[in-house]
Order: sequence, then structure tokens, then C-alpha cells
Amino acid sequence: MQPKDIKPIIKPFSIPEKSDFDILIVDDEFVNRFLLKDILEQDGYRTHEANNGTEALAAAINNKTDLILMDIMMPDMDGYETCRRLKEDPCTANIPVIFVTALTDTENLVKGFSVGAEDYLGKPIKDGEVKARVQTHLKLKAAMDKISHYNEELEQVVAESSKELIRTERQAAFGQLIQGIVHNLKGPLTTIRGSAQACRATLRMIRTEIDEAGETPLPDNPKITKLTDGAIKAIDLSETASTRLTEMINSLMSKSSADQASKPERLDLNTIVRSELNFMEGDLHFKHHIKKNIELTPSPLPIMAIAPEIAQVFNNIIGNAIDAMHGNVDQAISISTTKKNRYASLSISDTGNGIAPDNLNRIFDPFFTTKPKHNNDTPQKKGPIGTGLGLYMCMRSIKTINGDIVVESKPGSGTTFKIKIPLAEPIDIS
Ligand SMILES: Nc1ncnc2c1ncn2[C@@H]1O[C@H](COP(=O)(O)OP(=O)(O)OP(=O)(O)O)[C@@H](O)[C@H]1O
Ligand SMILES: [Mg+2]
Repeated sequence: MQPKDIKPIIKPFSIPEKSDFDILIVDDEFVNRFLLKDILEQDGYRTHEANNGTEALAAAINNKTDLILMDIMMPDMDGYETCRRLKEDPCTANIPVIFVTALTDTENLVKGFSVGAEDYLGKPIKDGEVKARVQTHLKLKAAMDKISHYNEELEQVVAESSKELIRTERQAAFGQLIQGIVHNLKGPLTTIRGSAQACRATLRMIRTEIDEAGETPLPDNPKITKLTDGAIKAIDLSETASTRLTEMINSLMSKSSADQASKPERLDLNTIVRSELNFMEGDLHFKHHIKKNIELTPSPLPIMAIAPEIAQVFNNIIGNAIDAMHGNVDQAISISTTKKNRYASLSISDTGNGIAPDNLNRIFDPFFTTKPKHNNDTPQKKGPIGTGLGLYMCMRSIKTINGDIVVESKPGSGTTFKIKIPLAEPIDIS
């Protein structure tokens, strides 16, 4: 799975219809409530009623309420106190309150505004005025709701983008760290190769010396011949292994501008797959008894890539498949290549334990592993160990050549990795 795309679009805010608005009418006089209810419902709004302050507080919390029309003079808790409490509670603070009052002198109006009311309507009630004020405040509320909706959406988008940024930066930092480590491996490896060559040369010199000493010439001294032949073979092997490691390191380093970059060259994907399968035959067949189903396209699949890197990607993915099938009865790997829409695809499926859905989008993160780091950590467990860098490096290598890796997996039914690489341009033979 690839890192998730940043959500590009903010969900639109739909403007409510009149019939979507709920208005709470608060008055201890039935007639006043009836009048307001009649005007508002005829205008298309939905209404609810409360006949005192306590009921109003409960109704505003328990029902959807977009606006409150409230009488001031009520027994027990008057309109001012009810309004103050409504504005104190974060759940009801944003509901506009319009006082419906005969007390329209300045002192009472100031008191009304000071407890948080948005407006007032004078008694006796006038049909047109009620409709106009209600409409104005509902429009205002809709505008406020729209702004806070977009704010919330924006905050979410920003949070997701930041997460993505942090993830990208973290991966870049790990990349640098790995390059540093890899860079430091080059020196010791050169020493190992150099020492192997020196050992072989010394052994040959010893043989010549023995020959020249002439006491028991070498062809007649099978013991010494056998021993030195064995030593030379072992030295050859370690030299081949360190050459291979150096090649891999050079190819990893190719991404660093400080080093001589190896350049992608024209290769046949099928040839790399075949040669890597040969190389891994010992592991797959003899060590793990894994069945192989191979289906490669009859014609070559030319790609522009660095051979050791593609080989390494293949190795890592097969290595993971072997680990995932560890201890299972039926162990099989299916490998196929296809050609589609200017891309070469390599698919590698296993019959392993699969990947838990929660882990699917983490497996390409550097250092993400479900395997113990060292067997020393869990000496009781004998099984695969991991650093969690394999797939991270695979994705890096494939992205460098504009390809991609996707994974499909179900716990218990195996895993398929699909590697997509652009086909190389045809060679111009004109
Ligand atoms: N074929 C697979 N089946 C099941 N799980 C897999 C498979 N391939 C990868 N995984 C999961 O992805 C994790 C990360 O894989 P990755 O190759 O990056 O690291 P690793 O194999 O744990 O360690 P290493 O760095 O040694 O390769 C693995 O630990 C494993 O949980
Ligand atoms: Mg691995």
C-alpha cells in the first residue's frame, strides 16, 4: 500500500431550507405561544414550545434548536436569567435568542443585550416584523454554521497534510541515516576483499615455496594440496560475497549526489527474475521445500533500471514470503510477469499468513517490522528476524525508476506484491 493521498476537497456545506429550521417559543401565556407558532409555521418553519425558563433550558439541550423566541416576564425564572444560562452552556451558547417583550425601554433592552440576547421583538406582535427578524437571525446563524463547518474541515485537512508531511520528512531523515550507515560499510568491505585477495596470493606463494624447497614436491603431497585448495575456494567464496555486497552498496549509494551514481540501464526484467531465482534456488527448494509456479512473458520485458537494485527488491519480497510461510504445511510462491499499457508488471504471491489490515499501510515505513529484531531478544522463539528496512528500500528503488509497488493481502490467505515498472522506450533502429 502506498502512503495515502492528502484529501483534496472540503465537503460542501448545504444551505438549509426554512423547513429545516427548528424554532423554540418560550412564553408562559398560551395565547402568545399560539400566535407566534401560527405565524412561523405558516412561513414554513418547524416550532417547539416551552412554557417556562426551566422547560426552555431542557428543550434547547435535548432538541435541535436553531433560534429561540422568548418572553421576558415569566414566573420563577424570567427571560433574562434563562438567556444568561443558555449563553453560559457551550451546547446552547450559539443559539440566537430574540426577546419578545412589551418592555422596550432602553434600560430593559440594555439588560437583554447584556445577558447575551441577539435582538428583541416588541409586543403586540406584528406578523411581518416577526418573519423579518427571524429570517435575518436564521440567515446569520446559517452563515456562522457554514464558517465553523469549513473551519472544522480545514483543520482536518491541515492535520492530515501535516501528518503526511511529518511522515515524508521522517522517511527522508531515515533515508539519510541509512545512506550514512551504508556509506560506512564501504570501507570495511574493501578491506575484506583486499584481504581475501592477499590471502589467496600468500597461499599460492606458500605452495610455490614448498614446491621449490623440493623436499616433497606438491603434486606428491596430497594433504597440503587438498588443504590449500580448500582454503583458496573459501577465499574465492568470501570474495564473491563481498563483491556482491559492494555492488549492492554502490547501487544504494547511487541516490546520493556525493557518490558516483550508477545509472539505470536497459535490462530485461525476465532475465533478472530468472537469474535471481537461480541464485535463490538453494534457499527456496532445498532449505524450505517451497513450491514455485513461474509464468514469465515469452518475450523480454525491457526496463530502465539498475540490475542489483531490482535483484534486491525481488530478493526482499521473496525473503518476506519465505518468512510469512514459515512453519506452514503448504508453502508455495507464484511469480509471474505481464506487459500492460507501457508497463512491465511483476507479481509475487505467497501462501503465507497474510498481513493484518491495520499493518497494511505501515509495511513500507522504515523500521516497521512484526518480526523480532534479533533472536537474542526472544531466544525462546526460533523464526524469522527483521530490521523493517526491506520494503522501505524496495519502494525507494522502484519509485526512483517511476514505478510503484502495491500489495493485496488477507490474513490467513496469503499476500501478493505487484511491482509496476515503466517499459523502456523501443530502440530506434532507423
Ligand atoms: N509476504 C508477506 N506476508 C506477510 N507479511 C509481510 C509480507 N511481506 C512483508 N510483510 C510484513 O511487512 C513487515 C515489513 O517488511 P520489511 O521487509 O520491510 O521488513 P522485515 O522483513 O520485517 O525486516 P527486514 O528489514 O529484515 O526485511 C514485515 O515485518 C511483515 O510484518
Ligand atoms: Mg523483509
